[in-house]
Amino acid sequence: MLFTVRTRIYSGKESLGYLNTFANKKVWIVCDPFLRDSDALRQLQQAIPQTCTVSLFFDIIPDPPIATIAAGVVNLQATEPEVVIGVGGGSAIDAAKAMIYFARMQGASIETFIAIPTTSGTGSEVTHASVISDPQKKIKYPLFDVSLYPDVALLVPQFVVSVPPGVTANTGMDVLTHALEAWVATGASDFTDAFAAKSVRLVLQYLPRAWRDGQDLVAREKMHNASTLAGMAFSQAGLGLNHAIAHQLGGQFHLPHGLANALLLPHVVRFNARDLSVRQKYAQLSRECGLSPAHATEEEAVKYLLKAIEQLSAELHIAKNMTALNIDAQALTGALSTIAAAALKDATFITNPVTATEKDIGTLLQAII
Ligand SMILES: NC(=O)c1ccc[n+]([C@@H]2O[C@H](COP(=O)([O-])OP(=O)(O)OC[C@H]3O[C@@H](n4cnc5c(N)ncnc54)[C@H](O)[C@@H]3O)[C@@H](O)[C@H]2O)c1
Ligand SMILES: [Zn+2]
Repeated sequence: MLFTVRTRIYSGKESLGYLNTFANKKVWIVCDPFLRDSDALRQLQQAIPQTCTVSLFFDIIPDPPIATIAAGVVNLQATEPEVVIGVGGGSAIDAAKAMIYFARMQGASIETFIAIPTTSGTGSEVTHASVISDPQKKIKYPLFDVSLYPDVALLVPQFVVSVPPGVTANTGMDVLTHALEAWVATGASDFTDAFAAKSVRLVLQYLPRAWRDGQDLVAREKMHNASTLAGMAFSQAGLGLNHAIAHQLGGQFHLPHGLANALLLPHVVRFNARDLSVRQKYAQLSRECGLSPAHATEEEAVKYLLKAIEQLSAELHIAKNMTALNIDAQALTGALSTIAAAALKDATFITNPVTATEKDIGTLLQAII
């Protein structure tokens, strides 16, 4: 068993101060158009010493497609930065990772890659994953490579306060899904369990607060930490069936990533819990998080965990199914076998604790229509 922490993490209101350590560097910032015009970007630029030259690439769209990565690589090669900063949601950070990856293949020498998340969701700031979309094939590809770990992550809670409640809810449920999948994944260890369990506790306690009042800096900071902790857990333990299917729903229907996960989560937990050892592991978490009385049986403890997940989704006004999201049931029914076949090939499926067939995935998808 190997557990490594590769990314240096600065958390809290003062974390931007880290940027003061740079002098006379070419800095290239990757973000989306929303961030380009935001107060957060102004604060970020002010935190970079004036001896540095700063340029921006801001063409990122949600679920970044291959064409955006290619354009970014060209821009990166022309700029020749020593420092790259990916700032934004998972889409911007993942895009920056992929651009660096392909530019390095062609000889670019980047000294430092800094990730600054502005959503509390993907954990991309500490993972070796980057999810890139192919809009023609309607597929999202999770790439995994050790070189994709950011060198530094800056968790700046004041950068998240502007996130609207719907995005807070979706991204927060992504955190919970990462932690729950890592908790039972085949690569789970005492080390990843510690990160995953703490992340679940923080989400249950602080996500409703962050959703109700986006300006609540304590809740924002705790959710930011929860997201990074879950990222550290799943980057080493692995993910599972939930993400394998959610990636297909994102590719086919442009469903926000966290929302796709949230729809599936109770169904996937129920499916995985049919296996005795997985059920025991979920029951342990349910007890550790104080969701279940100590005397409850394993089955009951899992039910308490499921109740907590469903109550959280309801409290955040997350839709229960695709119909409630106005997604054409016929389109989903027609795509069932394509989605199921692609989910089985998704890189995250391999670490699910139990195996699943195309038929099982079809049943899970029927449950969210
Ligand atoms: N690399 C990984 O480990 C990993 C893990 C899970 C998901 N992902 C991928 O990450 C992407 C999703 O990332 P995401 O959920 O963070 O969403 P996102 O990056 O797509 O952003 C969602 C929306 O929120 C807006 N936004 C971001 N920060 C904001 C702020 N501070 N204030 C107001 N609005 C803000 C963005 O402009 C965008 O419109 C998907 O492509 C998903 O597949 C990656
Ligand atoms: Zn995710």
